[in-house]
Formats: sequence, C-alpha cells, structure tokens
Amino acid sequence: MKIAILPGDGIGPEIVTEAVKVLNTLDEHFELESAPIGGAGYEASGHPLPDATLELAKHADAILFGAVGDWKYDSLERMLRPEQAILGLRKYLRLFANLRPVVCYPELTNASSLKPEIISGLDILIVRELNGDIYFGQPRGLRDAPDGLFYGSREGFDTMRYTEREVRRIGHVAFQAARKRTQQLTSIDKANVLETSQLWREVMIDLACEYPDVKLSHMYVDNAAMQLVKAPKAFDVVVTGNMFGDILSDQAAMLTGSIGMLPSASIDENNKGLYEPSHGSAPDIAGKSIANPLAMILSAAMMLRYSLGRPEQANRIEDAVKRVLAQRYRTLDIMTPGCKQVSTCEMGNAVIAALTH
Ligand code: IPM
Ligand code: MG
Repeated sequence: MKIAILPGDGIGPEIVTEAVKVLNTLDEHFELESAPIGGAGYEASGHPLPDATLELAKHADAILFGAVGDWKYDSLERMLRPEQAILGLRKYLRLFANLRPVVCYPELTNASSLKPEIISGLDILIVRELNGDIYFGQPRGLRDAPDGLFYGSREGFDTMRYTEREVRRIGHVAFQAARKRTQQLTSIDKANVLETSQLWREVMIDLACEYPDVKLSHMYVDNAAMQLVKAPKAFDVVVTGNMFGDILSDQAAMLTGSIGMLPSASIDENNKGLYEPSHGSAPDIAGKSIANPLAMILSAAMMLRYSLGRPEQANRIEDAVKRVLAQRYRTLDIMTPGCKQVSTCEMGNAVIAALTH
C-alpha cells in the first residue's frame, strides 16, 4: 500500500506528522513517500503542484494531504497560488466525490455556538461534487463587458455547468451512502433560479427510482443554510454541487464547534482517494505546536476505510480518538475548563496510547 504524503503549508506538516505516527503504530505495511505541495511546492520548484508531486500522487494508492496556503502567496497570479495545488489534484486525479462527515462528539457539545440540545448527537454526511460546477466551468475570465447596461466596463465571468452524467455519478455515491445510514437523502440545489440546478434535480429524481429504499427530498440552498442552523439534526446524507457544497460544508462544520475535528475524503471511481482535514493551513498558529491533529488523524482513518480496505483499522483509530476526548485531552481550539490542554504532538501520542492499550 503506497501512500503519498503531502504535508503542504502552515500547520499541515505538524498535523501530518501526527497522522503518520498513528499509521506507523498499526500492524500494517505502508510505503510512505512525501513531496512538497502548495506554497512549499512553489518554493521548491516554482509551482504549487510540482510535476514530481503530481506523479507521486498518481501512482499512490491513496494520498494524505495536510493543508495549503499562506498569506504571503496572496499576491501571486492565480495559477501559482497554493489553492491551485488542491484544485489540480482533484481535477487531474478525477476525485469527484467529496465526503465530509459532520459529527458532534458528545464531549464537545459545549464548544458549539448553538445550544447543546440543537447539536448533541449530530451526525451528517455531506456529499459534495468536486470536479464540475462554477469551479471548473469554461468559459471564464476577465474582459470588457460585451453587452448590457454596463457595456465596456471590466467584467469577471465564470460558468456554472453540470452534465447529466456528472450529476448521475455523484448521485450514485450519495444514494449508496444513504443506504448504509438512515436511508434519508437531501439534495440541495437552486432549481427555482438555475438551469444547472433544474437538471440536477431532474437527474436526482430519476436516480431515486433505482433506490426505492432511500427517501429523497429536495431543498433550495438558501433554505438549507437556514435549516442547518435551525434544525441540523433533521439532515442525514446531503448531496450538492461543488460551490454550494463548499459553503454549506464550512457552515455545517462550525455547528460542531470544532473544525479541527472534521476529516474529509475525495475519491475517484475506483475508490482511490485524497484525505485531508476540512480545515485550512492556519498560518497564524503554524509552528507553535498548538494545532489540533485530530481531523488529520481521522482523515487517515477514512483513508484506511475507503481506499485501503482496512475498515477495522479505521474503527480502531476512531475509537481511540473518542477515548482521548473522554480522557479529557484537548488542544487549544477545543479546550474547556476542567480539561487537560495538550500540544499537537501530545495529542498524537495520546491517540497512540489509546490505540495500543
Ligand atoms: C475546500 C476549500 C477549497 C475549495 C479551496 C482551498 C480551493 O475551501 O476544500 O473546501 O474551495 O474547495
Ligand atoms: Mg471550503
């Protein structure tokens, strides 16, 4: 099992170190190979996704990805910015299905800005399409407006588009995920305004015939944003496009009060995947050993489950994380009075101790 290790920028390297430590305590043989990406890739070779890094990622069975980005690259032209690395990997490796579990751990109920009764026991799976939509749609660009009221004024434009086959492909992933959970799927779109969304909804309705055991419902994205804070527990599996999924998944993550806890998987047709925490590179706290490595460690667990065929090892890691929370170990982001504050490295060690005892 070959795993590409791409630590990236900011807190990326610190949290990846902890996830690798955890992997190395499992009784498995992994071949791990690291490469620079994001700002680190740019420093090493002038591009955020160096050719050698892309080659390594292509040939690995799975990819463990830390985080990319730093303010110091904000003035670079778009194609050289760290974010292009993750967008490039998603596109070149056809990682079209993004799974973002949003789980509120009982010990962290008080960390949320919402009332405990609204979020206790929260367990949502967001399935976000990752290869299409306005993120990648052509044409896009900057020009002088060719028509309209503001004719001649500088204009930026992007194209939202989805083909039926792309919607069907992500739809299958979502229906199958719903089948394994509570058989409830909410598809989120803006079908009252957008053609893209109308097609999306038609395809989802059509697909539902193949999954008579799953109850499909639809929601407009603006209402979904409202329902997510009003009654988040009414959702189970959610499926949506790239842009809406980007926004709603950050919103949903914050319901749990701790974006430092949420892993994610981005997988292709063959279950090869890239695994990364849902949070970013947090350059403001980089190098201080205060970052929470649990989302990264839980991402490694998802990797074992979805790409490496080791669900029992994934369960072990997830149980170990629950145990360290019960033992009241907390990094700064989830610290509450009465708990034991630990560093990034100590949190990794606590997970390993829980795993091996
Ligand atoms: C995410 C991030 C990325 C996205 C950025 C870093 C390009 O926000 O994974 O949600 O917009 O998809
Ligand atoms: Mg995002």
